[in-house]
Amino acid sequence: MKTELVYSNLAGLAVELLAVVVADGQTAKGAEARPEPVLLTTDPAIKAAAEAVLATGEFKAAANETLLIHAPAGLAAKRLLLVGIGKLAKATAIHTRAAAGTAVRFCKPRAIRDLAFALPTQLAAEATARAATEGALLADFDPDTYRSDRKDQSVYACKLIASATDKTAVEAGYAEGLIFAEAQNFARVQVNEPPNVLTPTVLGQRAAAMAQSIGLKWDVYSSEKLHELKMGAFWAVAKGSEEPPALIVLTYEPEGYDPATYSGPVLGLVGKGITFDTGGISIKPADGMEKMKYDMAGSAAMLGAMCAIGQLKPKVKVICVVCSAENMPDGKAYKPGDIVTSMPDGEKPGKSVEIINTDAEGRLVLADGLTYARQLGCTHLIDAATLTGACVVALGMVNAGAFSNDEETFARFDRAQQRTGEKFWRLPLGEEYFDQIKSDIADIKNTGGRWGGAVTAAEFLKVFVADTPWIHLDIAGMAWIEDSRPYIAKGPSGVAVRTIAEWVRNFEA
Ligand code: BES
Ligand code: MN
Ligand code: ZN
Repeated sequence: MKTELVYSNLAGLAVELLAVVVADGQTAKGAEARPEPVLLTTDPAIKAAAEAVLATGEFKAAANETLLIHAPAGLAAKRLLLVGIGKLAKATAIHTRAAAGTAVRFCKPRAIRDLAFALPTQLAAEATARAATEGALLADFDPDTYRSDRKDQSVYACKLIASATDKTAVEAGYAEGLIFAEAQNFARVQVNEPPNVLTPTVLGQRAAAMAQSIGLKWDVYSSEKLHELKMGAFWAVAKGSEEPPALIVLTYEPEGYDPATYSGPVLGLVGKGITFDTGGISIKPADGMEKMKYDMAGSAAMLGAMCAIGQLKPKVKVICVVCSAENMPDGKAYKPGDIVTSMPDGEKPGKSVEIINTDAEGRLVLADGLTYARQLGCTHLIDAATLTGACVVALGMVNAGAFSNDEETFARFDRAQQRTGEKFWRLPLGEEYFDQIKSDIADIKNTGGRWGGAVTAAEFLKVFVADTPWIHLDIAGMAWIEDSRPYIAKGPSGVAVRTIAEWVRNFEA
């Protein structure tokens, strides 16, 4: 789908479908409460075309509700689509993002190829333009890459119609929207790939190609480098597969960066990249195992965020470390009872880890990834991982889990999530939870029993961040959407890409 920003009046647009946003302006409470649809456009031609149907009261302007008017009188467009965004008083860019998505997804199954979306004129211009651009591009994504009939559903062109009085703000918002949405879709493409296509090696190649295309520095290493760095935890997971692991490092340096004089923060983005998680010797049940191709969604989120950062060009250095492997049962696979040693931390030796369950592999690869990121000079860390089923039990598929050892660093993240509309819920850490992962024969063990599984996993990671300010995101429940919504397809969500990129930008100030 090709998007385009257009300054024009709405009546003259000769498109197959013109979408306009309608809010519910109702303010009365109790018995008097009736929806009062308010068109979020000042164009008199739209008012005239929609007046009669709005007067019937059959359209309530609820969020993502749609009503289609064929051959609207006085408009050059073949169809006029009304898209609801709910209560006017509560309407924000988040609702506009969904409305633009709803319009695109309305067109797809109906083979409507050419669409115009009128940016709601009553909301803040920059945020609205960005949100609508994101919504349209995110909605265009479908996971049916491998279906031979997929072309039947493509929307070819989406024009975003803005008012010329807001030109500067609208253009800035549009440019950012393109960057954020394309970065998130990059992540979704990777998560969607089948595990026979997207091996650790291929993930490395795709990361390198992306980095090359936007001018990031990159390195992709494999088994030898893991041995050289003594990454015993990462290697324990990787060695049970015929597919070699990939240690992917991308670096973004701000304009004019000079290592001798740079004194700003160095942000470390660490991602879990298990391209398929069978559980290993502690093998998972067959039911639903095919979904474990998305166990690399944390790394896709980090690569997507780097894709956005490379184009947004914030004045802060960022290093991304992805630990990618396949978790397989094999003659060479690690076993419950094994004791493995993580990467040394400078002068300090690595930690000995007693393996209780080979299905708790994500924390092992991240342990070495976090240590390595610190060794590369990171002053602040954030990791993303589809880490625990326990986090899905705790928060469902509405919020991802977030953990942090530092209030200021988390406050920046909180501001970022308010801007992007993504939802993360902070969960606690604490010594009592750490007690659950103490081992009788090693420094720690890799599982902490049944209770508080998301927290004991986070406590495990915390061992490897030492005193570095750090955020851990458990996206297990959010990386794959189970049901299609009007504005987004079921399948890979690309969760966390935009919020992580926004968090990075927060360090500029
Ligand atoms: N990749 C899984 C977690 C997961 C579960 C992701 C559901 C997405 C959806 C992870 O590697 C895992 O298997 N975790 C175990 C840990 C347990 C053995 C301590 C789990 O959550 O059951
Ligand atoms: Mn697992
Ligand atoms: Zn896993």
